[in-house]
Amino acid sequence: MRARVITLVLLVGIGLSLLTLVPRLAELRGAGNNQGYEPVQPIAYSHRLHAGELQIDCQYCHSGAQRSRYAGIPATEVCMNCHSYIKAPRSAVRAEELAAEEEGRVPEKVVSAELTKLYDALALDDNFLPAADREPQPIRWQRIHQLPDFVYFDHRPHVAAGVRCQKCHGPIETMERVRQVESLSMGWCVDCHRDPFGKGGKATDPVASTDCVSCHY
Ligand code: HEC
Ligand code: HEC
Ligand code: HEC
Ligand code: HEC
Ligand code: HEC
Repeated sequence: MRARVITLVLLVGIGLSLLTLVPRLAELRGAGNNQGYEPVQPIAYSHRLHAGELQIDCQYCHSGAQRSRYAGIPATEVCMNCHSYIKAPRSAVRAEELAAEEEGRVPEKVVSAELTKLYDALALDDNFLPAADREPQPIRWQRIHQLPDFVYFDHRPHVAAGVRCQKCHGPIETMERVRQVESLSMGWCVDCHRDPFGKGGKATDPVASTDCVSCHY
């Protein structure tokens, strides 16, 4: 009798804990499943301006995409190819020139507040020379797209097969701040692998591997 009461109590207990656990399990998502994630970055770097308006090629900054697994985030030095000269938006420089002309003075140097963060990271002083009392620090860009460790992904075969960046990352060249557009779920990868070029998936169409070991170690 006593054993049956204990069993009953245990079963009710397990039932109750499952009731509270199951909805939470449904919310659990793989680490890669960060659809919509759009973190604030340490510098308000804009893809809309650089990749959209200025039309800088994606691989000028993400050159890893065609020769390594990772596309890579550019080093601060890549920014300095331009920002050693461009220290503020042209509109701000022009506005200062006009104001100075009107007031009959020499225009002041205009340095944008956002770009000051870049120069601070490089430990440059007011004259853009290495400051003696500080060390350069890497910029701590927040990672956005990230698959779980048990998934193998490599940019190379995709770039080589002619899959455009935007197919997987959305219209990056329109984004002020990068957002993860796709789910990066297994279904998303496999759906494309079955019919990568949208040809309907007939037997003779090119396909990419759907073997488990292609994507899982
Ligand atoms: C002038 C340099 C530059 C160019 C050009 C550029 N990017 Fe970026 N990209 C960055 C920097 C810096 C970051 C990190 C900060 C951020 O997320 O905005 C980044 C981040 C990203 C990320 C998010 C990485 C993550 O953490 O998941 C993606 C995706 C990306 N870029 C794709 C592109 C694509 C596609 C293009 C072309 C349309 C492009 N980028 C052009 C500099 C650049
Ligand atoms: C087939 C889909 C796909 C294509 C095409 C693609 N990416 Fe990615 N990208 C991903 C995935 C998935 C991740 C996350 C990878 C991980 O966590 O290992 C990622 C991560 C990134 C990152 C951050 C991590 C890293 O690899 O450095 C950047 C930057 C990036 N991609 C840029 C680009 C650019 C630029 C292109 C075009 C040249 C491109 N991607 C093409 C799917 C893609
Ligand atoms: C090929 C040249 C080029 C490269 C490389 C480049 N930029 Fe720019 N960037 C520009 C130009 C040009 C402007 C100003 C556009 C204008 O006049 O409005 C600008 C503007 C900016 C601004 C806006 C400043 C403000 O106050 O509005 C920021 C922030 C910025 N860049 C950050 C970066 C970072 C960070 C990198 C490196 C990841 C980078 N840029 C790489 C050309 C470049
Ligand atoms: C938009 C379509 C598309 C998406 C989305 C996509 N892939 Fe691919 N994938 C391809 C194409 C095309 C190839 C190249 C096939 C070839 O060269 O035969 C490829 C090749 C690969 C390869 C090399 C496999 C081999 O046998 O050559 C791996 C690994 C891979 N993809 C992993 C992934 C993972 C993981 C994801 C999801 C995070 C993903 N892919 C999402 C289209 C895609
Ligand atoms: C084209 C790439 C690709 C192939 C092929 C693939 N997977 Fe996955 N798989 C993924 C990705 C990406 C995730 C991570 C999904 C997430 O984070 O939400 C994943 C996740 C998983 C998970 C974790 C549970 C889950 O759904 O998140 C299991 C288990 C799994 N895969 C098993 C398999 C098996 C078994 C096969 C072969 C029949 C296979 N996978 C083939 C890309 C792939």
